[in-house]
Amino acid sequence: MALNGQIAVVTGAAMGIGRAITETLLQNGAKVALIDVDEIAGRSLLEILEKQFGSDRVLFLSCDVESEEKLKVAFQKIAETFGGVDIYCNNAGILNEIQWQKTISINLVSAISGNYLALEHMSRQNGGRGGVIVNISSMAGIGPLPSCPVYTASKHGLLGFTRAMAAASRASGYGVRVNALCPSFVQTELFSGGPSRLGQFAHLADEVAQFAEKIGILTVGEVAEAFLELATDETKNGEALLLLPKRKQYVTFPSFL
Ligand SMILES: NC(=O)c1ccc[n+]([C@@H]2O[C@H](COP(=O)([O-])OP(=O)(O)OC[C@H]3O[C@@H](n4cnc5c(N)ncnc54)[C@H](O)[C@@H]3O)[C@@H](O)[C@H]2O)c1
Repeated sequence: MALNGQIAVVTGAAMGIGRAITETLLQNGAKVALIDVDEIAGRSLLEILEKQFGSDRVLFLSCDVESEEKLKVAFQKIAETFGGVDIYCNNAGILNEIQWQKTISINLVSAISGNYLALEHMSRQNGGRGGVIVNISSMAGIGPLPSCPVYTASKHGLLGFTRAMAAASRASGYGVRVNALCPSFVQTELFSGGPSRLGQFAHLADEVAQFAEKIGILTVGEVAEAFLELATDETKNGEALLLLPKRKQYVTFPSFL
């Protein structure tokens, strides 16, 4: 049990990658607070997990991460119920080139609010125990996906924030590691519904499908396994872990500092 007794928070936990990460955390001994805007899916998953892992180890909070106020209240409730936060997985995200402002709002602006709120509870400078944040970026955080320029921008932004935040945390003695996981295509609703949300780039949908067929599609379980590596390996801070089918690689960036 790599994470016995640790307290984890996962956003976008009701389905897809967030659900798989939640299950992996529970299987490894953590207590998990699930945050999701989809109350029906969240409550029905909570019921399943309570039966499997015990009702004292799981908590569901219905919350839209776009509301900083509601997210703040959710963190307070989690800290009161479980007694702190050790692991934060910022996973909630959308791919929508039509509502592109919402894509930036959820994938980047709310991700930053979530990281700051998590740090308020986790930083040793605030009396927290330290811990680890994993931001779910994407391979679109490392290179461009022509069919979704705004999604690409949001994930590049999240990766840049992660790397700078990790350096800031190290330099400020927060005791919190901050890493990014960058998966290629994963079999979830976001991926299967993606082609209908490309807007002015819909004509590039076939190209994406061909590319996905060429490189393969990850399972949510494979993503959760890579998440666990970033969460438990104490040597990893400020890392971007690129995950493709049959290939996993820590990305090397040019150094100019
Ligand atoms: N599926 C892929 O191909 C892929 C690849 C790389 C990275 N990612 C990233 O992984 C993360 C999870 O994606 P997924 O494929 O599991 O998506 P998904 O659509 O299957 O699940 C996303 C979950 O997030 C929740 N959510 C969405 N907006 C929210 C909000 N405003 N507040 C709270 N919860 C919200 C949804 O209700 C849902 O439960 C995203 O950040 C996505 O960008 C996905």
